[in-house]
Amino acid sequence: MDRGIPRREFVKAAVAIGGSAALAACLQRESTPELPTGPDDLSELPARQHAWNDVLATDDHGNDVAPKHHVLRLMDYSGAGPPSNADRETMERSLRTLERAYPRSHEGLLFTVSYSPAYFDGFDEPLPDSVDLQEPKALAPFEEPALDRSDAVLHLASDYGSVVLAVEEALFGDAEELNGVSVEAGLDDLFDPVDRRTGFIGDGLPADHQDVDGIPASKPVPDDAPMYMGFKSGFKKNQATEDAVSIQSGPFADGTTQQLSLIRLHLQQWYEQDSRFHRVATMFCPVHADDGLVEGSGDNLGDTSLMTERGCPAHAEDHAREYGVVGHSQKSARARRDDTPIMLRRDFDSTDDGKASLHFLSLQRTISDFVDTREAMNGTDLAESGPVGQRTNNGILQYMTVERRGNYLLPPRALRSLPEAQPDR
Ligand code: HEM
Repeated sequence: MDRGIPRREFVKAAVAIGGSAALAACLQRESTPELPTGPDDLSELPARQHAWNDVLATDDHGNDVAPKHHVLRLMDYSGAGPPSNADRETMERSLRTLERAYPRSHEGLLFTVSYSPAYFDGFDEPLPDSVDLQEPKALAPFEEPALDRSDAVLHLASDYGSVVLAVEEALFGDAEELNGVSVEAGLDDLFDPVDRRTGFIGDGLPADHQDVDGIPASKPVPDDAPMYMGFKSGFKKNQATEDAVSIQSGPFADGTTQQLSLIRLHLQQWYEQDSRFHRVATMFCPVHADDGLVEGSGDNLGDTSLMTERGCPAHAEDHAREYGVVGHSQKSARARRDDTPIMLRRDFDSTDDGKASLHFLSLQRTISDFVDTREAMNGTDLAESGPVGQRTNNGILQYMTVERRGNYLLPPRALRSLPEAQPDR
């Protein structure tokens, strides 16, 4: 399996395949350093499951850099009726094993668990008013996504593919030890598997994995691009802070909401017919294309994609009329509040099903914040007033299809194991 395959390509393939054989092969090839175990005193860990930024790497401009390898496990609680305290305790023991086994960082392990509206429907009482969690639904006139209703999503992330694979073996396989720590309990008795999704992000990884449907055979993805579409994403000033997306009050304070969509990419025209001008204009803003503001994948921009700085969101309609094209970031930035982003994007690319895909995972205080941002990104107003099409020349809508959507409550760490809808805290 490994002969002649470069190391980073091999590791991604192993994560996509999963299982103990993939883990063994990955350990051999990845040259994972000897990793220390996690803290003995777990009370030092942050209250927020989503508090990752402090333990992520940063680039030269101070932008947070996402962990390279990701696995999402969608699963259904297997017990009949509302979860028992015994199951809650088993799950907590199992998650604590992960925390003891690896440092909580991009070089160790980061993870979250979140729960769907369908899960909370199993309780007599509704979620408190301080939580805005809604059933997923189609969010554009031109999409018909399947709606995910599995009870829970476990998100595992690490710079080392072997770490996420080893964690899966401990939780769902036969492994009795994880980085030398004995595995007290797994999750396989508590949950039935629904779906396993995998992915990667980081300079060079997309180019290594462009032999998939949706990307031309000429292998056009730039060698150093962190994402399939060739541009960098997640500039510090274009992301919400963790404080901004955290729920402020009620039992789920320090939690957040998570939306997860499975997006397929169609990049034939993007790479074979569109000009660099068009790519920059539709991803960022026509002004960025006109003034040559973006070099390569956009690292030269520093820590901001220069949206309000260049007046792009406010002039979306003027630009659409003047240039016949409008940018994705330009439209999405119209959802900001007081010029502050309201969504924290933690998305990553994927080769799942042999198709160029993107698992769009975002955190926001309320699901309404996501719905509003997606509406801004749709730019239906601009299509109705004439200058651009519903999907053509209207940001990057033409190059993507949302196949599935799901919404989740990501509770604070203290309530991450099979929470009740109205927990006493
Ligand atoms: C194929 C899928 C997507 C790709 C490749 C993509 C890529 C990008 C890039 C390159 C930027 C500019 C850099 C930055 O500000 O970080 C950006 C900004 C942004 N995108 Fe996306 N994006 C995708 C889908 C989405 C979706 C589904 C949403 C949800 C509504 C979204 C919301 C945003 C927001 C809110 C911003 C920042 C706007 C601001 O500056 O306030 N993106 N995206």
